[in-house]
Amino acid sequence: MARKRVAILISGRGSNMTALIEAAADPEFPAEIALVLSNRADAGGLARAAEAGIATAVIDHKAYGSRAEFDAAMDARLRAEAIDLVCLAGFMRLLTDGFCEGWRDRMINIHPSLLPLFPGLHTHERAIEAGMRLHGCTVHFVRAQMDSGPIIGQAAVPIALDDTPDMLSKRVLTAEHQLYPLALALVASGLASVENERLVMQGDLPADLAGMLVSPRFGG
Ligand code: GRF
Repeated sequence: MARKRVAILISGRGSNMTALIEAAADPEFPAEIALVLSNRADAGGLARAAEAGIATAVIDHKAYGSRAEFDAAMDARLRAEAIDLVCLAGFMRLLTDGFCEGWRDRMINIHPSLLPLFPGLHTHERAIEAGMRLHGCTVHFVRAQMDSGPIIGQAAVPIALDDTPDMLSKRVLTAEHQLYPLALALVASGLASVENERLVMQGDLPADLAGMLVSPRFGG
């Protein structure tokens, strides 16, 4: 089966982007990273993507008069590159309903909480503040409402009683880097899809994908 052409949208350091690029370096991985697109020219991830030999593009949201025009410019670029799937990875712009609809069930996002708990920002502070003993991350199909949509996968990590938001964010990030490539593989291979706004899986996880499920080590 042809590998799906994936664009990763970033705004910052791009550590999840790097995890996806590393996973896709395996020719058996069902997706290739065809483009990294940022709304910020100073996003650290752009240099890392270029080092990996991946095409990069900057579409500066400040150059557009409205969200709709910015989203239309991104949409045109993604279609010009024959992109099949979009991965949001620390992309810090709200997307219009039209853009979300145009990429419905072909755009996924990673969020640093166990959704539907803690959508939005400052998730680690909020989980500690709420007295949670578990926290984690979620990969989901994107819908217009921020941090919502059918959930593809989640990883949970413990919260230590003396955790600071910074300590907790590092532990969650380790889990993000394991979860996101797996979730992308599920979608790109066609194993995971959406019916009636819920995830459906076709058959069992094949051995080559199951092999990607590494044992998480969430110490410190
Ligand atoms: C991650 O915590 C991700 O879950 C959230 O934004 C952060 C991006 O980090 N959506 P990075 O740019 O992937 O390092």
